[in-house]
This record gives sequence, structure tokens and C-alpha cells, in this order.
Amino acid sequence: MIAMKDAKRYTVTAALPYANGPLHIGHLAGAYLPADIYARYLRLIGKDVVFICGSDEHGAPITIRAKQEGVSPQQIVDKYHAQMKHSFEKVGISFDIFHRTSSDIHHETAQEFFLELYNKGVFVEQETEQFYDEEFKQFLADRYVKGTCPKCSYPEAYGDQCESCGSTLNALDLIHPISVLSGKKPKLRKTKHWYLPLDKDQEWLKEWINNGMYKGKIHHDPKEWKKNVMGQVGSWLNDGLQARAITRDLEWGVSVPPQIPGAENKKLYVWLDAPIGYISATKQLALDGKIANWEQYWKDDDTALIHFIGKDNIVFHTIIFPSILNAKGGFNLPVNVPGNEFMNLEGDKISTSRNWAIWAHEFVDEHPEKIDEFRYVLCANIPETKDSEFTWVDFQTRVNSELVAAYGNFVNRIMVLNHKYFDGVVPPSSSEYKNISDDAMLVVKDARENIAGLIEQYKFRDALDALMLVARDANKFLTTYEPWKSIKSDEKEAKAVLHACTQIVANLGVLSQPFMPQAAAKVFDMLNIEASAWSDAGGLNLIPSGHQLGNPQLLFEKIDGDFVAAQREKLKLTKSQQTDKKYAPVKDEIQFDDFAKMDIRIGTIIEAKKVKKADRLLEIVVDLGFEKRTVISGIAEYFNAEDIIGKQVQVLVNLASRKMRGIESQGMILFAEDLEGKLHFVSPPHDLENGSEVA
Ligand code: 2FM
Ligand code: ZN
Repeated sequence: MIAMKDAKRYTVTAALPYANGPLHIGHLAGAYLPADIYARYLRLIGKDVVFICGSDEHGAPITIRAKQEGVSPQQIVDKYHAQMKHSFEKVGISFDIFHRTSSDIHHETAQEFFLELYNKGVFVEQETEQFYDEEFKQFLADRYVKGTCPKCSYPEAYGDQCESCGSTLNALDLIHPISVLSGKKPKLRKTKHWYLPLDKDQEWLKEWINNGMYKGKIHHDPKEWKKNVMGQVGSWLNDGLQARAITRDLEWGVSVPPQIPGAENKKLYVWLDAPIGYISATKQLALDGKIANWEQYWKDDDTALIHFIGKDNIVFHTIIFPSILNAKGGFNLPVNVPGNEFMNLEGDKISTSRNWAIWAHEFVDEHPEKIDEFRYVLCANIPETKDSEFTWVDFQTRVNSELVAAYGNFVNRIMVLNHKYFDGVVPPSSSEYKNISDDAMLVVKDARENIAGLIEQYKFRDALDALMLVARDANKFLTTYEPWKSIKSDEKEAKAVLHACTQIVANLGVLSQPFMPQAAAKVFDMLNIEASAWSDAGGLNLIPSGHQLGNPQLLFEKIDGDFVAAQREKLKLTKSQQTDKKYAPVKDEIQFDDFAKMDIRIGTIIEAKKVKKADRLLEIVVDLGFEKRTVISGIAEYFNAEDIIGKQVQVLVNLASRKMRGIESQGMILFAEDLEGKLHFVSPPHDLENGSEVA
């Protein structure tokens, strides 16, 4: 087993973002910032680390975007690869490489994986019927088909996933499917694909995930895995794994190796090639001369592989990629997959299509002086255990009352006092004042180990709190000893206090490095030292007395109300500026009789509660006058259960009942969806008797 601490080498990966749009704060807080803090920490404690990322340049969303913009997929990925690289660099995400899956080395690596697995007979070949757009003369990837979700009735579900209830779907199961390309109903056509028979991996995957055992040996400690990750994988395993198609009929992507019969026009499923991108990126790192041997980072027993991802990537990193690595043989499986939940923005889900986001490239270009403030607030709100929320008011509060008032203020006071009383030369400590060094020790003593332990457990928010505790305790220490008073009565004491405080400043610099690298560098610059060693933190011997300090500098700037107002305004503006309002295409014609079959009644919601373990579902009881019905509705992200009680609604009452999450749903409440994708009840203009017919 590779106990995390004992690993000699670490391969830290962060999910390869799709090169089909800009990065936003949700991406940063969900995967890249935690991964960066972790990688920086490992480097600080002297570990051999490769921190790998790159852009995911295949997949249907990229070709859809290219079609929308009237350019080639290559142009799309070139644009977003460059933009994402720029954003990551400016945010200080310290990848050792930010590679691309459109590179030759990646195509070769992914094809080599496919061919080897094919030759080993791992795949199952199967002919199935798939949607085909006759106007565009092509098969439709699941993303290219939209329709009504069979699980929650959301009318705009994609063929691969319903964004409303989160279910993974199969395009063939959609109700009223339409092609995203032509807006028409697609036809079914036969096509052949290769499948990864995950059902055959079910047993060993279960043993590996639930018990941390792999090939009869202890591999990792499952207790170290996050609950949200275990929960999601657990439910996949309990439902039973099924074979999954790993090729597609597409023009853009990694080609199925041409030596395989029937490979023409077939591409690898993007989720097969993307994680292999971690490996091809590591190979490139070796070719660039940055590491000696890529294989050590993927195959050696004493290397720990850790994948940082968002919650929508969990199954791919805990089931599908491990299955591929296992089939290939000789590769390490991840010892941990720290997956995060999602970050919301100002009370609403972040959405690229609705332009409801804070875009990383805009923030870094508009506020290059606030990068560490940005990192700080994002870190404080990492959605570690549940969805989190970013608001500009919270940004202001945290910067002003935490960074400026506690951290920046302490550092500034110590710098100024040292200059005022001692011309910036660090004063000596004194053995007569043991109470001073004892109390100062209390401020820093446990901080390093606390922070390290929390980072190792992927508890980045708590680790940041532990850092800020040092700043807060440091201020208390200073107000207890008031050197500006003792300087007049007992200079020796004032010197001892400021000696200790200068050491605390240096501690803050060292311990901030994983979280706020620029602020840490500024602290070292002010102190006029090279960065102290991580292992020095927790003590009071970082800077010798007699050392000449540099000049005080402003560490963090206060955020005023105008800044917050401007940012909030900008958000609103970008949302209302959207010009690409999408009207749902008109569905196929029906006859009056079809319509007349629907029995729609007015009812009043009398009870509502969240469905356990289903973020988006509400269980609602409606009084229809003639009886009461339970209806499950995928609207939890738009409405609080308690707010909708008493509302009159329209209910389709003769819809066949269906079980959802073990609850029988006996009808459907009608909603209007606005052009921003928000749902609204279709209520009568004034109260009507329950049971009234809508016709
Ligand atoms: O969800 C996404 O953005 C995917 N592009 C992540 C891929 S992660 C890895 F497997 F490459
Ligand atoms: Zn759904």
C-alpha cells in the first residue's frame, strides 16, 4: 500500500477542462485551486511531484460550439486552450504541464491503449440502432440529441445527461427526441461500436473501492476517500455496472486505430481518450526534459496517483479509467479521487449558456492585483462536502475583515514598528522574557502540522482557517504585549516582543505559500529573505536578530462598496446582454384528439419536501379537490419546499404513474420555462376551486 505520506512520488492530476468555453470560478474552486494547493504543499515538504493538466479538446460540445460559431473545431480548441492556459497561469495554478489532447503524442498514446485492449480481447463488439440526422447525414452523439427526460420530465434534457435531475441518460430513452443539428426528429440507423464490459469489472472494482484492496493487496485506505465520492461510486456499484460504448460515429476526435476492421469514421469516446491525456501529458513532460522517466510516475509502486475533479467526473475517474488502466496492466490506480461538489453564484447555478458566471480570464485581466484575494475567497468556499456559494458581498467581507484586518494588518504593524523603533533591523529576543517567547510559540506551534494534516485530508477550507488562526492569534499577542508602550518603559521587552512578532510574520509567509503564493512572496520580500523552509514554520527561529528588513508594502487592498456594486452590475449586465436566446423548436404536429387525451386540473400544493439523496427533486402533495396526489418534480434548484406550499398549480392528472427514487409520482405539475432556463408555475390568474379542468 502507498500510505499517502510514504509515497516517494506524486502524480497529481486536475480534470482536463473542455476547450469549448472559458473557465469560471466554479471550475477553479471545484478542481484546480484545491489541486494547486495540494501540489504546492507537496513540493514544499520536499516531495517529487508532477502536477498534470491540459485541455480536453474532443467531444461533442466542442463540435457543437464550432458549428454555432461557424468555425472549425480546431479553431475552437486553439482559442480556448490559449485562453485557459493564460487564466491558469495568472491565477497561479502551478501545473508542470498544461497539455492538449489534440497533440500527436496524445493521439498516439490513446490509440496504443485502444489497440492493446482490442488485441487482448477486452472489448465487446455490438451493433445497435442509433439516432441519425438525415438532413446533416450523420449519426448523432448523445449530446446532439435533446428531448424530455424520462426520469423527471425536464423538457430540455441532453441525450447523455439531464441537467435538471442529474441522471445519466441514453439518447434512445428521451421522450420526443430532436436533433440539435437540424431541430428535426432523428431516425434510427444501425451502427457498430466497441463496448467496455464494465460488468466484468464489477467485483474487483467493488473490492478496490469499498475495501481499498487491489489484486489481493492493500492499495489505499477507503476511509481517506471523501463521503460524497464514496456515495456516488457506491450507488453506481449497487445499481450494477453495464457495458459502455467507447467509440462514436464522429468526425472530430482520436480515430479508432485503422488496423482494426470497421474502424473507418469511428472515433474514441471522449471519456476514453481524455483521462489517457494525463498519461500523454506526462510523456510530454519527459520529452521536454522536465522529468527523467514518465513511467515512474504512472507505474512505480511508490508513486501515489491522485485525481482532483468535480462531481460530474466521479464515475469516469473511479470506474471507467481504473477499468482501462487495469485492463492495460502495469499502471497504478488512484489512491484518492478528491471530487468536489459545485459552486453557485449569487444564489443561482453557474451556467455558461446563460452567461451566469465570473469568468477567470476576465477577473485576472481586470484585477491582476487581487489574485491572492481571489484565491483566498475561492478556497474559503471550496464546495468540499456540499454545493457552495460565491457572492461579491462575501468576497468583500472576507477580504476586508479577514485578509486586510487580521493578516495584512499584523504584518504591516510589525514592519512599521520595526522600522520606527529599530531602523528595520530585527531586534534581539531576551531570555529574561521567557513568557513572551512562550506565548509567541503558542501562536505558531501547531499551525504547520495542523495545516499539513488538513491539506493531506483534502480539507482545504479548514486548512485556510488554521492559517488565519495564526493571524488572529498574532494580533491578540501584539495587543497583549503592546510594544509601543513598553518601548518607553522597558526597551528590552519591546525588542523581545517585536523579535517574536517578526518570526510570526515569517511563519505566516511560509504557511501561506500553498494558498496565496504572491502574498507569501511579498512577505519574504518585505522581510528581505529567501523563502524560509516549510519545516521552519512552527518555530521562532526564522530570522536572526540584526537582520536588515526590507520596506513595508501593502499586502492586501480593502474592497470598497463601489467595487462590489460594479461586479454585481457586471453580472446582471452580462446576463441581460445575451442575444442568443434559444426558443425550443416546435414539436411534431398532433391531432386534437391527442390533446384532448390530456386531463389537466387545478390543484393546491399542500405539502412539499426534498427527496433524500436527490438534489433536484421535490416530493409534492397536491390537493385536487377530488383526491390528493403525490408528485415528484425536478424543481428543487428553483424553489424551496416551504415557499411553494399554498400555491395553485396545473397538474396533468392522467399521466401514467411512475416510480422515482422509490416514490410513486402520480401526475405532473406544469411549468413555464423562461428563456434563461428558469421554471415558473403556471398558476390560474386568481384562486379557483381545486379540481377545475384546464382545457
Ligand atoms: O468535465 C470535463 O470538463 C471533462 N473535460 C473532464 C475530463 S477529465 C479527464 F479525464 F481528462
Ligand atoms: Zn431529468
